[in-house]
Amino acid sequence: MLNAANRTIWERDNLEILRGFNSNSIDLIYLDPPFNSNRNYSAPIGSEAAGAAFKDTWTLSDVDNAWHGEIAERNPALYQSLEAAELAHGKGMKSYLIMMAVRLLEIYRVLKDTGSIYLHCDPTASHYLKILMDIVFEKENFRNEVVWKRTSTKSLGKRYAVNTDRILYYVKSEGATWNQQYTPYDDKYIQKTYRREDEHGRWGTVDLSGGKAGSEQAYRPLKGIKPPPGRAWAPPARNRFPATAQALLPNNYEALDQLAKCQALDAASLLHWPESGTGRPRWKKYLSVMPGVVSGDLILDTPPVKGKERLGYPTQKPRALLERIIKASSNIGDWVLDPFCGCATTCVAAENLGRQWIGIDLSAKAVDLVKDRLKREVQIGEDGVLLGKVIHRTDIPKRTDTGKLPNYRTHKHTLFGQQEGFCNGCRRDFAFRDFEVDHIIPLSKGGTDHPENLQLLCSSCNRIKSNQTQEAFITILKERSLRR
Ligand SMILES: C[S@@+](CC[C@H](N)C(=O)[O-])C[C@H]1O[C@@H](n2cnc3c(N)ncnc32)[C@H](O)[C@@H]1O
Repeated sequence: MLNAANRTIWERDNLEILRGFNSNSIDLIYLDPPFNSNRNYSAPIGSEAAGAAFKDTWTLSDVDNAWHGEIAERNPALYQSLEAAELAHGKGMKSYLIMMAVRLLEIYRVLKDTGSIYLHCDPTASHYLKILMDIVFEKENFRNEVVWKRTSTKSLGKRYAVNTDRILYYVKSEGATWNQQYTPYDDKYIQKTYRREDEHGRWGTVDLSGGKAGSEQAYRPLKGIKPPPGRAWAPPARNRFPATAQALLPNNYEALDQLAKCQALDAASLLHWPESGTGRPRWKKYLSVMPGVVSGDLILDTPPVKGKERLGYPTQKPRALLERIIKASSNIGDWVLDPFCGCATTCVAAENLGRQWIGIDLSAKAVDLVKDRLKREVQIGEDGVLLGKVIHRTDIPKRTDTGKLPNYRTHKHTLFGQQEGFCNGCRRDFAFRDFEVDHIIPLSKGGTDHPENLQLLCSSCNRIKSNQTQEAFITILKERSLRR
């Protein structure tokens, strides 16, 4: 169960917050992180989002080296892929991917076994991110690389224009939630396929015959006309027709044999006979009961944000895009998380679709925008009252699924054995009594008392590390030549 309240927006680094969430607690995670696109984004002055800015360039100094070590420990294949990315693309890409990899490991942990994840990115790093996702979520759980046409085509000199984003869709297991989505037919198709109209609406026609059938009746002539050789009559189920047409069929329609069903359809004028009088009948397929075109992995029908929806927030995504994702991979009441929520497109879409949601963003501006946006864009309940209240938090949630952990100091003996008596800072050996148990990720930064977050340091190293990250600590030791 998630240890957070619905409609909470956190203003803090998402890694710290993710580390505080219970395992197996979220149904759908959509993330739209900075893309390593080598630019710093800021919202246009005067726009609603002015003041929001976030960094999209990465250098090793931005990244906690401790994460690198953590990744090596938790997932050696992931570590190797980061090394490969550095060789192929340089240190900046590696740093960006380290930043992403530690978060993906936490995301995997907090996602329910029936959960799904959508990682929004662009071709700058999508190929490297797909490798990380294949490793963390396992290649069998890859579902789609969705391509979203996000802008009109602009010339970029001697290459094809870049006007699409990528959305990497993975599930955690076979049992993941999936609701097929459809897009409306285009007018041309409707004109061509549904050319005729009667009292039940526009209709086209479908072959009334199908493969082999068990019953002999299915091969008998209908008004003197036989099904094609080797084929049988295959009348559709009652629910393939609009309600007004269904009302014309006998109540026991489903229990009839194929020939009797065809006769019932004919009596209700739901068959189309060719004008020549010798051809075979077809059944009438009505446009009003067709769901539309099955959504594919190429999204061309969702334009970039414009008009009233546009807040000026850098990289704001259209609500329609998020609605499609949320409807496909979650159900009413499910938990949706956006750990890089920006101006809260996901949260607004989730609220309107009756899902519970959590948003996280570093930027204080994002929090203000969420509140404003929810007031304006969330449909008001029948009683005229905005559904619920938005909670703004900056503290780290405390996991409630770990049971009561033993006092972290009880791990001292095990750690002494694991480290073979050497300090994890200066790498010198000490007597047992000279060691202190340290939290690798400090408690104040979302670390826990779990054994994997503990290490032994000699007392002087522990004083140096204090409340710092492992990276900052190791850097100091190196600067002072204190690390062997
Ligand atoms: C590409 S934007 C997301 C835009 C969003 N999908 C929308 O429609 O508004 C990325 C966001 O990630 C936030 N961000 C970057 N690093 C973060 C971190 N470590 N923790 C939380 N938020 C972060 C930025 O402040 C920015 O708002």
